[in-house]
Amino acid sequence: MASVVVIGTQWGDEGKGKIVDILTRYADYIVRFQGGNNAGHTLVVEGKKFVFHIIPSGILYEEKVCMIGNGVIIDPAVLLTEMDELHDKGLQVTPRSLMISENAHLIMPYHQSLDQAKEAALATGKKIGTTGRGIGPCYMDKVGRIGIKAGDLLDDSLFRERLQENIEEKNFLLIKKYNSEPVSFDKIYADFQGFAERLTPFIGNVSVELDRARKSGQNILFEGAQGTQLDIDHGTYPFVTSSNTIAGNACNGSGFGPAHIDAVIGILKAYTTRVGEGPFPTELFDGIGDELQRKGGEFGATTGRKRRCGWLDGVVAADAVRLNGLTGLALTKLDVLSGQPVLKMATEYQLNGQRLSAMPSNIRQAAAVEPVYEELAGWQEDITGIRDINDLPVKARDYIKRIEDYTGVEAMLISVGPDREETMLLKNPFEKK
Ligand code: IMP
Repeated sequence: MASVVVIGTQWGDEGKGKIVDILTRYADYIVRFQGGNNAGHTLVVEGKKFVFHIIPSGILYEEKVCMIGNGVIIDPAVLLTEMDELHDKGLQVTPRSLMISENAHLIMPYHQSLDQAKEAALATGKKIGTTGRGIGPCYMDKVGRIGIKAGDLLDDSLFRERLQENIEEKNFLLIKKYNSEPVSFDKIYADFQGFAERLTPFIGNVSVELDRARKSGQNILFEGAQGTQLDIDHGTYPFVTSSNTIAGNACNGSGFGPAHIDAVIGILKAYTTRVGEGPFPTELFDGIGDELQRKGGEFGATTGRKRRCGWLDGVVAADAVRLNGLTGLALTKLDVLSGQPVLKMATEYQLNGQRLSAMPSNIRQAAAVEPVYEELAGWQEDITGIRDINDLPVKARDYIKRIEDYTGVEAMLISVGPDREETMLLKNPFEKK
């Protein structure tokens, strides 16, 4: 048995959905530990399309258990819609297949209103480009100790009291500060009574259940959302999400002890993308950027926004190795680079005549750094049909080798296309040495 964390090494959208889907085959439990429905991935299984924003995709397997940890924030309306959609496709989500932590906070309608009103009020250049799902305001309330937890749904009078306290404050902000529409206590209370009725059987103590699972020898997969550079502490603040996206939060966000983690896999896209605002040192503004965007189908899964594209950034990768303690890499979308005569990888940044080997904390500096590039020869062949790493063009193998040497972390999985089958699993992290 093993416990494996999978996280994004860049700004999200590294292809976590597919990698998690592949590793889920070997897991008994799949756990989300941070973020909310700002995340999103699409899977096509036997011709049926599934879009997941909150429930782990492991729900597609009947015998697996999915957990939504305390570090996740939950929009109950979105969760129930996702459950209903699965039901319509013939899949039953039961309290045996899904557990929601009683300590997970709820995204309330006023969180979304505030997220959108705040973004709208920010001047150009100051906007974060959030997904508008209420993520920041919900985490603010959690830290501000006025949030409402999933467990509060089990106690009507407690829920009512918490909601009352919040409505007063939120409507003050919405009306007075943002000149926006107020929210209605009666409507929210009535809607949430319905949500409580449906969600009550799913709410429990995720930490206790995970401990029991670990002790009984089950394989546990922790599924990160977003990416390392979007981490609230270690990312390009303030152009980040409002949770810790790094591997350490798999423990905080689920109630699992750090000594029990066996492997941390970082998903690294073979080039870089970013959706939303904020620094992006290797961003391309030329035809190559457009080509990567087009060939890689780089549109945000949640908002549909076009993703910004650029060369692989070794500095970002090295940050991820250090911050997450990576034990393996999953290299994705290598096929998108086919046809490029020359590939570039940033190995350092330059700023005011100085060389930097980590992303600077100062946001103005992060926006001003110039990448120092190393050039590597590209390959022309289509590699999507390749299933053995030895059959890859030599230049593709050289690219992988250079990434491994630079990061000091071995590639355990190489993805050469969107399909499940278009993958080379070189080493299974659930198999202990
Ligand atoms: P928020 O998480 O909605 O507050 O958005 C904050 C920033 O994180 C914005 O730049 C978003 O585009 C970005 N972001 C949030 N979730 C994801 C994700 O799942 N993938 C990529 N970017 C994300």
